Amino acid sequence: MKIKKIGIAAAAFALVAAVALPGCSSQPAGSSSSSASDASNAGSTEVALVNDGKLTVAASLDFPPFENLEGEEAVGFEVDLVKALAEQMGLQAEYLPSTKFDTIIPLISAGGKADIGVSGFTVTEDRKKEIDFTDVLIDSNQGVVVMPNSGYTSVDDLAGKTIATQSGTTGYDWAVENIPGANVVPYDEMTAVFAALQGSQADAIVSDLPVVQYYVKNSYTDMQIIEEIPTGEQYAIVVSKENPALTDKLNEALAELKTNGVYDEIYNKWFGASAE
Ligand code: ARG
Repeated sequence: MKIKKIGIAAAAFALVAAVALPGCSSQPAGSSSSSASDASNAGSTEVALVNDGKLTVAASLDFPPFENLEGEEAVGFEVDLVKALAEQMGLQAEYLPSTKFDTIIPLISAGGKADIGVSGFTVTEDRKKEIDFTDVLIDSNQGVVVMPNSGYTSVDDLAGKTIATQSGTTGYDWAVENIPGANVVPYDEMTAVFAALQGSQADAIVSDLPVVQYYVKNSYTDMQIIEEIPTGEQYAIVVSKENPALTDKLNEALAELKTNGVYDEIYNKWFGASAE
């Protein structure tokens, strides 16, 4: 693993000091806040980064509203959150070109290319054997999409049918395990998953509910979501098992963004009433 080690205690301390300012009203000056003592512990562990000063991110940029491409630029709820996390850690977020979803975990565990994988990654026990997850970013579920007038009204109608999914996803696994006799076809990209349904190569799509809702609302407005499946999935950031200090720092930064209102701002931007 070819990585440089840097101590970010100083940066972390500076940031804690900076973010402490807006909180002055609720926190008497001179009181010893817990974040300040966290910062003084920061020197005890070293975060390894692929590039100094940068938080290098691997993502499959086909998953709006979490991460998507707008021209050349990565945009989305997780993109904003990652930028805020990086800033909180005194780093700059840098996205690699869109990376095929099912290659991201191997890429992170091999090391050297990206520090984190952020792509609507559901926390699963299987994945935990290969990589570490941070604390949870947001909850999710699965959804089932069909063409209009398909005659399919529930998952029960899909037995033995062809289901389009994204390769290496929980949607693929769910379809294999729950739709009897289905031919579950994995595609590299979500755009190919939707193209397959549109082009009649598949009878239905199974993928993450917020994402299929987004695609149906904005791009494939004729398609229908016939079922919401409460899988209770939770997204988190993927980090190498060799970099536990980075997981710790990300968790600290996430906790801070959840208390200082930044997480809520980002959430409301993408999922609040005004995001409609
Ligand atoms: N939540 C699902 C999983 O973890 C799907 C994630 C797909 N992400 C993407 N960016 N295409 O398997």
